[in-house]
Amino acid sequence: MSLALPPEDAFAGPFPLASLDGPEPLEERQERWRKELSAAIYGPLPPAPAELEVEASPLGEASAERIEITMRSAIGARTLTVDAALWRPESRGDAPLIAGLGFAGPAGILSGPDFPLDRRARIHCRPELGILNGRLHDVLRGTEAHRWPVEMLTARGYAVMVSCYGSWAPDDPDEILRHGACPFVGLDTGAISLWAWAIQRLLDSAGRLGGLDMGQVAVAGHSRLGKAALWAAANDTRIGAVLANNSGCAGAAPAGHAVGETLAQMAAAFPHWIRPQRRAAALDQHHLIACAAPRKVYVASAEQDLWADPAGSYLALVAASEAWPRTCSWPGIEEMWAGAHQTRHAALGHHLRPGGHELLPHDWQLFLDFLDGGHA
Ligand code: GCU
Repeated sequence: MSLALPPEDAFAGPFPLASLDGPEPLEERQERWRKELSAAIYGPLPPAPAELEVEASPLGEASAERIEITMRSAIGARTLTVDAALWRPESRGDAPLIAGLGFAGPAGILSGPDFPLDRRARIHCRPELGILNGRLHDVLRGTEAHRWPVEMLTARGYAVMVSCYGSWAPDDPDEILRHGACPFVGLDTGAISLWAWAIQRLLDSAGRLGGLDMGQVAVAGHSRLGKAALWAAANDTRIGAVLANNSGCAGAAPAGHAVGETLAQMAAAFPHWIRPQRRAAALDQHHLIACAAPRKVYVASAEQDLWADPAGSYLALVAASEAWPRTCSWPGIEEMWAGAHQTRHAALGHHLRPGGHELLPHDWQLFLDFLDGGHA
């Protein structure tokens, strides 16, 4: 595969990502980075609910199950009910799980009419589809099937669990305090933290369902949901692998690399996503990635997606790899870009795909090769 070289500014520097080395053991440094990231960007991650109940019912369509998750808070006896879908592979035994949030949830993956639309969900408006009020609508059915190719994933032996991000926390600055997780947990925090909390609750729920290998859990997310997947993985050791696709600013892309979206631009366009307070001087997104060490992290980018800074995201992953026990050898940035190949180590992986901002079956093929193990 041959790719055009990026415009010069894709490699803009200087690029001083601080070393992750330090006198304290890695776990202590990770705890400090988590606190700093929470204070500098995301706001606190809410605690688990006092109670969580799960009910599974068959869906008929594409042999999926509908999972209803009901949570109760310790204080104020509040409840929050959210749904998800689960697809299981045919293989016998407990299946490894890939979980994540989708922009339209199960209804966006399934093309038929069976999965009920969550009327309380508030998603980002999609004017191109006529969605101006942030509600789930029939027109969204099947529109995310290419982003979650469940047949491919189950054929490769994985169970897949997906929920709609807007069911958990509205992707709308005017609604975030009113619906979903924020009033439920009683905490004013950023939506990325609330979506990371949602991913954690999907894992709580999966653990209750049976037939799933909770020792082999990967979480995946695209774009803003890739940011949430990384933040969830940074905070939850149940997540054995995180697949962060085109996660960009406040995801894998470091603020110190002057390409693409800045945190200030993101905060202006999406003020509800983060809760910045104080920033530690050397802190950047390689710290976020390194919070997941020694578990698996995969960063995927697309060549034309300069808004999400593919080169910077790669360099952050390379810098973060210092936190893993085994030294990895990484192609230089220009070699990586020119070859556009996948780089795979035991616990870390990367690819740069031709094309733009999307999550595609091709990305999944490479994710699955990584999860299946072995070096590229
Ligand atoms: C916008 C935003 C990005 C985000 C993306 C998405 O482009 O600026 O930060 O990743 O939306 O979630 O699709």
